[in-house]
Amino acid sequence: MTMEQAEWQVVRKKKSTKNQKVNPKEQTVLKTEIYLCDTVQERKNVIQKLYSTMEDLRLSEFWKTCQECVQRVPPLASEEYDSNRGVVCSLSPDIIQEGVIQSFDCVCYGLGNFSSCIISRHQLAFLLLFLEQFKIPRSQSYVFDPLFSQMEVSVLQQLGLTVLLDNEEGKRVVHKPTVFYMLHCGKALYNNLLWCNWSQEALSNMIIIGNSFKSIEERLLSRILQRDYMYIHQGLQIVEETPFPESCQYNDVFNDTSIHYFPMQKLRTLPADVWLLQEEPQYHECEDLEIIRNQKT
Ligand SMILES: C[S@@+](CC[C@H](N)C(=O)[O-])C[C@H]1O[C@@H](n2cnc3c(N)ncnc32)[C@H](O)[C@@H]1O
Repeated sequence: MTMEQAEWQVVRKKKSTKNQKVNPKEQTVLKTEIYLCDTVQERKNVIQKLYSTMEDLRLSEFWKTCQECVQRVPPLASEEYDSNRGVVCSLSPDIIQEGVIQSFDCVCYGLGNFSSCIISRHQLAFLLLFLEQFKIPRSQSYVFDPLFSQMEVSVLQQLGLTVLLDNEEGKRVVHKPTVFYMLHCGKALYNNLLWCNWSQEALSNMIIIGNSFKSIEERLLSRILQRDYMYIHQGLQIVEETPFPESCQYNDVFNDTSIHYFPMQKLRTLPADVWLLQEEPQYHECEDLEIIRNQKT
């Protein structure tokens, strides 16, 4: 419910209070109380629906197949990933050298309005199951969508997830193994992410669950891909992609989704000069950018 709708309700309730004059101060308190009650109830409803979606998903054949599919992806495979202890055979050589065992972080961009949109709610339910499965603490899961309402932010916080306050435009530098969960997001978000992690070390620490890079390549004119999304274009040579299983039931939710990672063997095949690419993407010539820019920059 928007603040406007809450105000509208307040006026109705005041009218129904017979022969009782409420002074303006009391009226404000009343308005605030009713608004808080409404949002608390709304949050409860959203969380209830979310948990019920999670349970449906947990029992589905799709979740079972997905787990098998995810577990075949080497960085998350059981021989490399001990869900009780974290990344055993770490993705990053530096981390192996230091002998550090650590769990993944998770970053989720572009979830959408999960309180009103059923697709987004299913994606959030999947995220929570995924975190549970790989024992990634919810507090190490960072979520951001510029369209989240205040109530959705509160729900995410109540669930224990960390809501990011700034629009990073996907420019998040990775310092440890990190899963990016960004379903049906704009191409610029993936391109920015690859740009700011454009090194063997950083890319080898990343898993991206999101729009199939192969499909992006197939759908876009090669000239446009090279001009506007240079890092996706270069990334295609070094990425390993596993498509999510197909499902009639969840087609709208997970269509065109793949798990991407960058195996060190492939990263080492790129010529040295490709790693010298540093230019920040600008998208000046992009007609439809598909992402919301940070207004502060
Ligand atoms: C096509 S919608 C996908 C929504 C949902 N994941 C789905 O599959 O229906 C793209 C989402 O990306 C979000 N988005 C746009 N710019 C963003 C940014 N800079 N950072 C994070 N998310 C962004 C939009 O607000 C929107 O919710």
